[in-house]
Amino acid sequence: MWDVDTKYRQDLEQTFARLLDKLEVLNAARPLPNIVLQNIKEAFLVEWTYNSNSIEGNTLSLRETQLVLQEGITVKGKSLREHFEAKNHEFAILKLYQLVKDDYVLNAKDILDLHGLVLRSIEDEYAGRLRNGGVRISGANFVPPNARKVSEYLDDLIDYINTNPQGLNAIELATVFHHKFVWIHPFFDGNGRTVRLVMNLLLMRYGFPPAIILANDRAKYYAALNQANNGNYAKLMLLMCQATERSLNIYLSAIPGSDKDYQAISSIVEEPEIPYGQEYVSLLARQGKIDAHKEGRNWYTTKEAVLNYIQNKGK
Ligand SMILES: Nc1ncnc2c1ncn2[C@@H]1O[C@H](COP(=O)(O)OP(=O)(O)OP(=O)(O)O)[C@@H](O)[C@H]1O
Ligand SMILES: [Mg+2]
Repeated sequence: MWDVDTKYRQDLEQTFARLLDKLEVLNAARPLPNIVLQNIKEAFLVEWTYNSNSIEGNTLSLRETQLVLQEGITVKGKSLREHFEAKNHEFAILKLYQLVKDDYVLNAKDILDLHGLVLRSIEDEYAGRLRNGGVRISGANFVPPNARKVSEYLDDLIDYINTNPQGLNAIELATVFHHKFVWIHPFFDGNGRTVRLVMNLLLMRYGFPPAIILANDRAKYYAALNQANNGNYAKLMLLMCQATERSLNIYLSAIPGSDKDYQAISSIVEEPEIPYGQEYVSLLARQGKIDAHKEGRNWYTTKEAVLNYIQNKGK
């Protein structure tokens, strides 16, 4: 029942290849200097927490999340719960970093533990516990399975991920896990935050940096999940590739001596060698056709990426 229709592969072949190439470059550059790694990790701790909690409805801004996590400051006008959510999420990421290793095998206990950390002191009655009643997801095109099925489905899904019968790559596995997990909806609350943590365990055991689903992409993310509920993974795969690529680019740019020069598309199209306008280059970026990533609302790419695309067009 977990079998995935892999039709999306036709469109994403080049994107997957590019991401795997980047992973190789990153792995070859490891170990990164401690100071570099420390800086990126701290930035990710804040960004990952802000984005994941914001998708869930937490109103702390990126800057406020940073103040809460790094300075231990309480933000006026924000509830205790919102502060707890930020601290809890940080704690869960730190726990996740401890769990990751090359031969990591996914298991229910780790998932429950991470969920326990996410909801600690907020919804203690649900923290780390599978739901024992029905749930609905607002805006979703389906109703999650009966509570009596949850434990069995979750075990089956974990087994599917660990045995990987369809030979999926790391990004595909993380994406399929993400969708099937929220389809099961094992918990009364905190499913989204938990899955956005656990999917990264799956990516990180292969050396990928954690992928962050941006709060700005919330509508796109929900639409992609609805499409996946209908058996079509195209949108969700693309979204996960984009999230992974953004993180890879941040890591790769931080390698000492890196010459990657990512710039906003608006300034790339000013270069005389670039024959395209901003609309078209943005479209190529959104479709995953060129090496690009999103920061806030803007897309970033390199001159080489666009020139490469022109050179390889039609091949
Ligand atoms: N149409 C959909 N189909 C499947 N899953 C969905 C759909 N819409 C949303 N979801 C998932 O359900 C999650 C919400 O579930 P829940 O409220 O338990 O999680 P949360 O962590 O409290 O909040 P959030 O997930 O919004 O951060 C979403 O984040 C998303 O992952
Ligand atoms: Mg919720």
